[in-house]
This record gives sequence, structure tokens and C-alpha cells, in this order.
Amino acid sequence: MNILVTGGAGFIGTHTLIELYAAGHTAVVVDNLSNSNPVALQRVEEIIETLNPSTLNPNLSTLNLKPSVKIPFYPVDIRDREGLEKVFAEHLFDACIHFAGLKAVGESVEKPWEYYDNNIAGTLVLVDVMRKHSCKNIIFSSSATVYGDPAEIPITENCPKGQCTNPYGWTKSMLEQVLMDIQKADPEWNVVLLRYFNPVGAHPSGRIGENPNGIPNNLMPYITQVAVGKRKELGVFGNDYDTPDGTGVRDYIHVVDLAKAHVAALKCFTQPSTINHKPSTINLQPSTIYNIGTGHGYSVLDMVNAFSRVNHIDVPYSIKPRRAGDIATCYCNPSKAKEELGWEAKYGIDEMVRDSWNWQRQNPDGYPER
Ligand code: NAD
Ligand code: UFG
Repeated sequence: MNILVTGGAGFIGTHTLIELYAAGHTAVVVDNLSNSNPVALQRVEEIIETLNPSTLNPNLSTLNLKPSVKIPFYPVDIRDREGLEKVFAEHLFDACIHFAGLKAVGESVEKPWEYYDNNIAGTLVLVDVMRKHSCKNIIFSSSATVYGDPAEIPITENCPKGQCTNPYGWTKSMLEQVLMDIQKADPEWNVVLLRYFNPVGAHPSGRIGENPNGIPNNLMPYITQVAVGKRKELGVFGNDYDTPDGTGVRDYIHVVDLAKAHVAALKCFTQPSTINHKPSTINLQPSTIYNIGTGHGYSVLDMVNAFSRVNHIDVPYSIKPRRAGDIATCYCNPSKAKEELGWEAKYGIDEMVRDSWNWQRQNPDGYPER
């Protein structure tokens, strides 16, 4: 398939490009580079060139020749209708994997308009241009955040959606509804909502990884920045939760596993009969929703201890007050994705902390300036 990858220069997008090409697909990237660096795409192309040529799309590989891979890249904002029209005029797409969006929880509280405009208005323009060009297959990057404080643990897809604690979360929750309604009105649409749990890790080469701007919000990049000496110590946000060691428990998933889930989800567009399209009792919509996690919960201190044990580096930390909006425990039951998509996470906590560190240690300041 030829896939439009919005936000393809970002953390999850770059890893997904590699898995798409490894599975014989091709891609075109649209990214306004608001939170990414084009060097990441060059590195993706280098990694793809090291893949076994027989797995690549035949158009790219010629026997006995090292394939040269150039992923078409458009530095376009998804709110820019004319820019998107140009991309669709130059390429035929079988599907879109839609990563583009702003994702910083704290920033979304300070700049709600910017988040609703970028994420919601952007997706509305994208979907409108897609339908005009008869491309009605979309995989949307959703989040465990839509469950709010979850009604059940482990979380299944039948767990009702909850109250989000920030505008970022609401953009995901609202966009799920928008896409489900669009599919309901026009059954030619195939909408797949992937609810990611906590992506961490990096490509095992250490050439691409997570590159946060400023002070990291998320646990793993904070740990790696402490380990590399950029930050003094980790603040652990609360040790009085109702969890085995009192710190928050999450379902961390290696980004390479997460990337492979997107390739597996493309199956929904080619073999719909194999997928259970029964309307969910909660949403009353035939959209296909999958939890993408490992099904294991690890605490903050589990992650710190695993990082130190595997990488032989101490991570100094101190206990701080709870962070507003955090919940105690969040992990999923990922069996629906296994049964219907044939996908399950393969990497464990040791590979997650190893690869996060491998990326950070090789790129202490992230990608080089453009
Ligand atoms: P990221 O910021 O690394 O990647 C997002 C990319 O989208 C960036 O390259 C950015 O430049 C681009 N972008 C943003 N707004 C755009 C616009 N208007 N037009 C074009 N490009 C735009 O983030 P990521 O971690 O790779 O996340 C990808 C998607 O997955 C996002 O939608 C995010 O909300 C979602 N998600 C991420 C996590 C996580 O913890 N990383 C968890 C759940 C869901
Ligand atoms: N934590 C710390 N110190 C830090 C950062 C985090 O103790 O410096 C703790 C948090 O309190 C929480 C755990 O580490 O218990 C994980 O926190 P993250 O910020 O890494 O992840 P969250 O589960 O809070 O949220 C992330 C994304 C959301 C997304 C959600 C589910 O930030 O956007 O995963 O996918 F919705």
C-alpha cells in the first residue's frame, strides 16, 4: 500500500515509516516540523536502506543493487488545505496514518485554542481532502487518556470513555467521536482508532528516538536526561498512590512494537471480513478500536530500577507531590489487537530502557540543528 503519514517526522511516525517499508509498503510524509527535525527522516531512509531488499517494495529494490530510498516529504501543515491538495494531486494513497498533532499535556492547558485548532481543525481539513480524493481509510493516533480515570483495570476497549483532565486529552476523545460519526454516515470510510498506552524506547540502532523540546514532561525522557547529566535528579510525582510501591503504574510499550501495530492495523483495510465489526455496546459505532499496550503495569520506581540495572547507571531521584491530573494505575488488556490484528508486543521492560538509553547516549542533544 502507499500510505500518507501525517506527522511522519515525529517520534512514533519515524519508527512507523521503518516498519511500513520493512513490510513492503511505501509512504509519503506530511509534517509541518513544529515538533520534529528533518534529520530524523534522513536517518529513517538510512535505516531502511539497511533492510533486507527482498522485504522492500519491488519498485524500490533491484536485485543485487543496494536500494536507495527517498521518502517523499512535504513540509505542510495539515490545516493548509491547498498544501494538502497538492500532495494528493501528486500521489495516490490507499490509506492515511494520522500522527500529526500537538501532544504536550501541560501546554494544552495553557493554550487550549492552539490545541483545538491544530488537532481538531487540522484533522477536519485532512479528512475533507481525503474524502475528495476517495481515500477513506484512516488509522488515528488516539490515547489511553480517553479512558480518564479508568472504570476497570486492565482496561478493555469496552471500558467507557472518561473525563479527560486537559485539552490535549479532549482533542483525542473528540476526534475519536468525529471520525466515528463520519464513518457512520458514510460506510465507505474505514476508521481505526489505536489507543496507545505509554510509548518509550527507540529504534535499536540508536539513530532515531524521542526528542522532546525543553524540560521533558514524560517519565522516560526525563530519566535518560538525568542519566546523561542534563538534569540533576528525577522528581517522582507521588509515592502514596494505591499501588504496590506507592508510585504511579503505567503500561509502557516499546515504540518499535507500537510502530508494528500500525502495520498490523492496515489489515483492516484489506481484509475487513476478518475483523470483528460488531458495534461496541458503549459507542454504538462500528469503528475499530484497539488498545495498544503490553498488558503489564510498571511503577515509576520499577522503571528507574530497570534503567539502572540494565544500563549500569544510577538515576538519582526524590519524591515530589503528586502531579495534578495523574491517576494511580493505567494498563490495558491488549487481547483484542492480538485476536483480530495478530499483533502483540514483543519487547519487554529491559529492551525499553536499553534502547531509550542507547538513543540518548548517542544523541545527548537530540538531532543536530538543521
Ligand atoms: P511527535 O510530536 O513526535 O510527532 C507529531 C508530529 O506531528 C511532529 O513531527 C509535528 O511536527 C507534527 N505536527 C504537529 N502538528 C502538525 C500539523 N498541524 N501539521 C503537520 N504536522 C504537524 O509526537 P509522537 O509522540 O510521535 O505522537 C504521534 C501521535 O501519537 C500524536 O498525535 C500524539 O498525540 C499521539 N500519542 C502520543 C503518545 C506519546 O506518549 N508519545 C501517546 C498517545 C498518543
Ligand atoms: N512521572 C514522574 N516524574 C516525571 C514524569 C512522570 O514521576 O518527571 C510519573 C507520572 O506521575 C506517572 C508516570 O511517571 O505516574 C508516567 O508519566 P508520563 O508523563 O510519562 O505519562 P502519562 O501516563 O502521564 O501520560 C502519557 C502521555 C499522555 C498519554 C498517556 C497515555 O503524556 O499524553 O501517556 O498514552 F495520554
